[in-house]
Amino acid sequence: MAEDTLFQAVLDPANRADPYPLYARLRESPVSIQRDGSAVVSTHEAIRSLIFDPRLSSEDLPPSHRPRTGNPLKDWLLNPLKDRIATAHRPLIFRDPPDHDTLRHAVMREFSVARVRALRQRVVRDVDALIDACRGRDEVCLVEDLSYPLPVSVICDMLGVPEADEPQFQAWATQLATALEPDARHDEASRHRTVAAFDAISGYMRALIREKRRRPTADLLSALAAPSPSGKPAMGDFDLISTAILLLVAGHETTVNLITNGMLTLLRHPRELERLRADPERAPRVIEELLRYEPPVHFRTRKALGAIEIAGRTIPKGAPVILLFAAANRDPARFREPDRFDPDREDNQHFGFGGGLHYCMGAPLARIEAEIALVALSRRLVAPRLMADPPPYRPGASLRGPERLGIRISGLAPG
Ligand code: HEM
Repeated sequence: MAEDTLFQAVLDPANRADPYPLYARLRESPVSIQRDGSAVVSTHEAIRSLIFDPRLSSEDLPPSHRPRTGNPLKDWLLNPLKDRIATAHRPLIFRDPPDHDTLRHAVMREFSVARVRALRQRVVRDVDALIDACRGRDEVCLVEDLSYPLPVSVICDMLGVPEADEPQFQAWATQLATALEPDARHDEASRHRTVAAFDAISGYMRALIREKRRRPTADLLSALAAPSPSGKPAMGDFDLISTAILLLVAGHETTVNLITNGMLTLLRHPRELERLRADPERAPRVIEELLRYEPPVHFRTRKALGAIEIAGRTIPKGAPVILLFAAANRDPARFREPDRFDPDREDNQHFGFGGGLHYCMGAPLARIEAEIALVALSRRLVAPRLMADPPPYRPGASLRGPERLGIRISGLAPG
């Protein structure tokens, strides 16, 4: 396969179960220019040097563009206005400084480590209840039975979104997450579905924010919607809506993959599963190594605002840039025996949560949830065996994870 089509192969669902040989080929040149003009960056050193580079912009989504409806009022007035607002108030993950930094600081003030730590007991209870619900069965589907419901109920609780409404926005959240996938971004029909999902979830959030202002509670959304001592809210309403949507979607898709990839990896490495069962204190090490070895987010995209010379290549001005975090995480120039799952590894500076200005804001929450879930699964599932290896994967190449993970068990140990 030619170097300039390797990334196309990464996007091909046929390679979803094991993209790592392709990543090894891509790393042969730290920056590889693809036939469509995009630059794929795949070594640890090259990503580290670019991640803080202000010439890389996160504002790389095409402008919002609603399809024609045939209704002149909508086509000439309402929809162009909505498109302008949606483009100007993108979620902060798609924004550059200074707007990005202002919004991020406003969220971080409320999305504090203390707020996250306070959730620990609740996560323990949720995990136990979800595992208890599998009693009497000899098979579980980890995604359906635990990895999906756990992060969703936690993020809903933290934000203050009624959990009963979750089935309503599950499909919207899944559609919105496709904004991270290059194929879906360039597919007209998928973009229109994304706009429709965004409109629907925005309407839902607008009503919820109104309610939080009327009757504030102890949740994050009430805090973000409240006026500051100066009398102004932390952010304008359009940004508040897009931030709430971002937190909800980020809390839906990624932690699911960390727990599922985690259990899959432990079942493939039974000695490590047994060590975790015997010593739950190992959990933080196991999670860090999982974030390196099988990260939930394989890459993120940027746009080059100017020509960038790097590793003997030139990324042209305007080129789409792909930061292939998962390839950097397996870079032998940075990690000893990178293809070995080794929770005892020292000096594990992975890109599982990205890096630089856009470093994941949910990292402490994701770590707590995954630690509690994997410790409980290792202790409570009796004689767990994988039903299919590899399992079926969801279509996404960026947000990569199994669609289902069937595990046969011989019972449940008490909680
Ligand atoms: C295992 C779970 C998670 C993983 C692997 C993960 C991964 C990432 C990565 C790689 C980025 C960097 C994006 C970039 O460079 O463009 C990111 C950003 C972000 N994550 Fe996470 N994430 C996880 C969970 C969460 C959760 C639970 C939340 C919140 C509820 C969250 C909220 C965010 C936000 C708001 C950003 C954007 C930050 C910014 O642009 O400044 N993430 N995440």
